[in-house]
Amino acid sequence: MNHVDILLGLQWGDEGKGKIVDVLTRQYDLIARFQGGPNAGHTLEFEGHKHVLHTIPSGIFHSEAMNVVGNGVVIDPVIFCREIEELKKIEPACVDRLVISRKAHLILPTHRLLDAASEQAKGKYKIGSTLKGIGPTYMDKTGRNGLRVGDIEMDDFNDRYNQLKEKHQRMLASFGADEVSKEMESGWMKAIEQMRGMHLVDSEEFVHSALEKEKKILAEGAQGALLDIDFGTYPFVTSSTTTAAGACTGLGIAPNRIGKVFGIFKAYCTRVGSGPFPSELLDETGEMLREAGREFGSTTGRPRRCGWLDLPALRYAIKINGVTELIMMKADVLDTLDQIGVCTAYTYKGKKVSHLPYRVEEDWVQPIYEMLPGWKTELTGMTEKEALPAALTDYIKFIEEFVGIPVSMVSVGPDRTQTIRL
Ligand code: IMP
Repeated sequence: MNHVDILLGLQWGDEGKGKIVDVLTRQYDLIARFQGGPNAGHTLEFEGHKHVLHTIPSGIFHSEAMNVVGNGVVIDPVIFCREIEELKKIEPACVDRLVISRKAHLILPTHRLLDAASEQAKGKYKIGSTLKGIGPTYMDKTGRNGLRVGDIEMDDFNDRYNQLKEKHQRMLASFGADEVSKEMESGWMKAIEQMRGMHLVDSEEFVHSALEKEKKILAEGAQGALLDIDFGTYPFVTSSTTTAAGACTGLGIAPNRIGKVFGIFKAYCTRVGSGPFPSELLDETGEMLREAGREFGSTTGRPRRCGWLDLPALRYAIKINGVTELIMMKADVLDTLDQIGVCTAYTYKGKKVSHLPYRVEEDWVQPIYEMLPGWKTELTGMTEKEALPAALTDYIKFIEEFVGIPVSMVSVGPDRTQTIRL
């Protein structure tokens, strides 16, 4: 039986999934996004150019791969069309390799306004959302009010849009927020018109027919396990299932069709937005990681919070995703350090625990670190595993022994070519 492999993030997003999908794409015929939306920013670098994808799967630059935006994704038509226009400048034919699920939900302009109004109302409890309308759109999906891509092909689309918009306007009024502007609406409607000319498909059928033809499929996750709506650091999470289970519901594939699960993690940890982060470094080492790792959000430009690798959290993410192999990113960012910290346990309610407890806020949980020797060697030009310094291979071995899963690749720079198979 043919299987679908999954690639996903094991931390708070921004692990470098875009780069790895791009590296792995040559082995796959079809790349499918299964959740999230324009809150994601997947960065790919090759031939001296940097590309950031928000909703479009990272396989789009390979001429042999088809790309699917699955039913679990939420689409902002304006951002989506803008992304396509940018891609067309690089390669006009890329749209022919992209299909969109009719069951994917649409982000309305009013969803974005509601996201902003709801964040503002939260005050000090705000989530630090990217404000792309993700939360309100998934709320309408589960509340059975949402509009889907397939609805734009129906005669009553405008009526349904107006009905939902009116509901949102009443909600906005209760927040004391402004109504949607005519410009926002007309830009959105123009993008809807453009989407009518795209390849809209019944994506579950599309994916199953590819499986029957023995095509190789990779499901591309967005965000990360610790931002999962159920298993992340709730309520400081996103509104979708970012874990492997999300690939089943977000594409319509059964659990017994899942093959390999590639888990991506950084050699350290970052988080953007609010919420607990036990191994955060608020000192000059944290600052150094941010500068050396260019840790600024690819969607919002916000500086990312940085800290040491959190191994109990990584082990937890591996467990809930069924990860079969690990890929370690940005090892080169640690090149200059004498010593590298890894969190191996926590103090929780005065006791040492080795799992991620229910409350991970700093008043509840304090990290326990082990310091490992740094390699003090520039990794960026290395291409062979034999060239890697012993302190780095020891660092990797330490992680593998802690979590019980092999690291199969290590990334030593942003370019496609800076990837070493172990
Ligand atoms: P939202 O999904 O835009 O509502 O944001 C909810 C939380 O998830 C915020 O803390 C965001 O910073 C975070 N988040 C959402 N998408 C990403 C991502 O792609 N990378 C990193 N963090 C993200």
